[in-house]
Amino acid sequence: MAHHQNIVILTGAGVSAESGLGTFRDAGGIWTKYDLEEVATPEGFARNPALVHEFYNARRANCLDAHHNEAHTALGRLQAEHPGRVTLITQNIDDLHERGGATGVVHMHGELLRALCAACAHRWDAPREMDPTAPCPSCNAAATRPDIVWFGEIPYHMDEIYSLLTEADLFVAIGTSGTVYPAAGFVSEARAMGIATLEINLEPSEGSALFDRTLHGPATETVPEWVEGVLGA
Ligand code: NAD
Ligand code: APR
Repeated sequence: MAHHQNIVILTGAGVSAESGLGTFRDAGGIWTKYDLEEVATPEGFARNPALVHEFYNARRANCLDAHHNEAHTALGRLQAEHPGRVTLITQNIDDLHERGGATGVVHMHGELLRALCAACAHRWDAPREMDPTAPCPSCNAAATRPDIVWFGEIPYHMDEIYSLLTEADLFVAIGTSGTVYPAAGFVSEARAMGIATLEINLEPSEGSALFDRTLHGPATETVPEWVEGVLGA
């Protein structure tokens, strides 16, 4: 950690892949099985809320039944050993970073375990299975949805994320294909500010050429190895 005072880490589906939660664009990924337009857009939700709830109820059950892995634990340890100097931003909607010991995780695409009322913006902890007909516990409107950012919507916490990036001296992307914006643009923002960049991914991603360094291999091996190196520095 000696060389870096402030590390900002962005994670994607790849960090939870070995916990059995699917990725999106790998072979057999989620978007090869479901039509993204039907289950991950506001238009799809307006057309058929029951289908969208069915999709996210299945993913919520997978998430609740899954276990965090060595990559999540290693990142939690890195944060714990250097309080206030390691921030985790995730595109993932699972809670495996938290179960691995991380705190203050910035969920830019929302959280599977949270529910949102589209009418009054009330948020609450989602039950294992959300009932599409259940009214909002606050305003009683029949407009409850998973608290997740869909395509075409603005990701959460963007002001906070850009301010975190300006303070960083190392930006690390772990387990993301680098295809979906704005997350895919963070490495270019970091480079423009002269911040060192590292990609840790199973294989080269669309953004690999933009990183100063890349580590390839499964996250449960590469992330603990990298964390050991940082803590030992
Ligand atoms: P975007 O335009 O930034 O991303 C679109 C990407 O999604 C494309 O690069 C492509 O890789 C993929 N894509 C688009 N259509 C697809 C299809 N039919 N099949 C497979 N892949 C497809 O997305 P946006 O509209 O700007 O989204 C805004 C934000 O919402 C982004 O940050 C996005 O990641 C987020 N989001 C979250 C979820 C979720 O399940 N949490 C789902 C969708 C979008
Ligand atoms: N270890 C490390 N990386 C892995 C592993 C693993 N075991 N398995 C897969 N990967 C890598 C893949 O090589 C790929 O680059 O994880 C990445 C997963 O990419 P995607 O499936 O595109 O997931 P992600 O980048 O998180 O998608 C971004 O798109 O659909 C939206 O909002 C959704 O948050 C998601 C966003």
